[in-house]
Amino acid sequence: MSELLEARGIRKHFGAVEALRGMDLTVREGEVVAVVGDNGAGKSTLIKVISGVHQPDGGEILFDGRPVRFQSPREARGAGIETIYQDLALANHLNVGANIFLGREMMTRWLGLIPVIDAKRINRETARLLNRIESRIPDPRAAVMNLSGGQRQAVAIARAMYWKMKLVIMDEPTAALAVPEARNVLRLVKTLKDEGIGVIYIDHNLLLALEAADSVVVMNRGRKVHETRASETDQEELIRYMTGRSEVGRGGTK
Ligand SMILES: Nc1ncnc2c1ncn2[C@@H]1O[C@H](COP(=O)(O)OP(=O)(O)O)[C@@H](O)[C@H]1O
Ligand SMILES: [Mg+2]
Repeated sequence: MSELLEARGIRKHFGAVEALRGMDLTVREGEVVAVVGDNGAGKSTLIKVISGVHQPDGGEILFDGRPVRFQSPREARGAGIETIYQDLALANHLNVGANIFLGREMMTRWLGLIPVIDAKRINRETARLLNRIESRIPDPRAAVMNLSGGQRQAVAIARAMYWKMKLVIMDEPTAALAVPEARNVLRLVKTLKDEGIGVIYIDHNLLLALEAADSVVVMNRGRKVHETRASETDQEELIRYMTGRSEVGRGGTK
């Protein structure tokens, strides 16, 4: 598998707080990397740096083999990085199809003259897409407002797939979900993986993170302190690294 994202020595401080102190992260195509760590370890800051929300103070990011420095999430998205937060930015007043095609609507010409949004085609494409991810959303014309948290995640994932994103970042996607919906998110992560999309998966529920991931990176106070195959570790070991005060294991597993 070729390397999709490589972040090296990323530093970021907020005033006196050093949120990232030389963080490294590698994600390959079709690989799900779980990033775990205690509250305040720097997980969200890391993904905000990768997705262009924050500018790093130091370090470098290679995406698709090229050095990048995204000035905004929009720029990151343009390069193929989509971030799905727990509180998704979906347009509540629009339907599912409109959300997937928001800002990139398919157009047609009314009477062959006046450009109008091609709602029929959008609905058709959306139905096909929802079918592909086996979503339980019955209708592309359903208002997003009426969807459950899990269904909203499905819309965001459908959007990322349709627009051929290369890396999808999920920050605590299951935090507000009931157990069956959380399981469904794991299924969606698998779908992304099968499409060859790289995924960074953050979840404070370590069992879900272990189940979703191929590999696990443990962060402790702004650094990577451990990296392992998901199949070769367990909750107990992860917690040890998450809470460890020593720097044991730092950089030792690569
Ligand atoms: N915008 C910000 N301004 C100031 N401090 C921040 C900001 N974002 C994060 N931090 C601080 O950076 C550290 C890492 O936070 P965060 O990345 O949110 O951790 P995590 O997601 O692992 O819980 C914390 O000490 C947090 O308070
Ligand atoms: Mg966080």
